[in-house]
Amino acid sequence: MSIQLGDEAPDFTADTTEGTIVFHEWLGNGWGVLFSHPKDFTPVCTTELGTVAKLKEEFDRRNVKVVAVSVDPLDSHERWIADIEDTQSTTMNFPIIADPDRKVADLYGMIHPNASDTMTVRSVFVIGPDKKVKLTITYPAATGRNFNEILRVIDSLQLTAGYSVATPANWNYGEDVIIVPAVSDEAAKEKFPKGWDAQRPYLRVTPQPNI
Ligand code: BEZ
Repeated sequence: MSIQLGDEAPDFTADTTEGTIVFHEWLGNGWGVLFSHPKDFTPVCTTELGTVAKLKEEFDRRNVKVVAVSVDPLDSHERWIADIEDTQSTTMNFPIIADPDRKVADLYGMIHPNASDTMTVRSVFVIGPDKKVKLTITYPAATGRNFNEILRVIDSLQLTAGYSVATPANWNYGEDVIIVPAVSDEAAKEKFPKGWDAQRPYLRVTPQPNI
């Protein structure tokens, strides 16, 4: 059974390049991103890990811990990190889980047999402070992920968790949002003192409420 939105993120204990972690404990009270890589020493993964290292401050600012997983052992990860740092001109600053027995990959359904029996696909799980899965995305091995998009979605998840709003297509932090249909106009007057533009009764556009 695949992991669905709202499911509790499976907990596990694993060795990583920054020591052993108990996943839920390691997440603490913040947000988390767990993302898988098909294999060590592969070109696309090398660029992805370098990209996330460079974006680490952006994840930190949003109180999000990032951790990668690859089904290779720790000594392989450690040798690979030297290549990542060298080719991507960065310093690795987050852990990579060693998963040679595929414990984490199996728990999270990261092996898709129609793609490969041995390698994980490029899965992304965003996990909220309640340890529930808020977002899943799956990319094939040959397509590198856009981590700016993942940050953008986290901005939406964090905003919509605290306010009765939804974010429209291509929304970016700071742009107008939509008042959810469940909020009546009467209730909206209190919740959204800046007002709104009712383009339709169900499409009420308001400035982002927390800025
Ligand atoms: C890569 O990370 O470059 C990759 C991994 C598996 C298949 C194709 C590309």
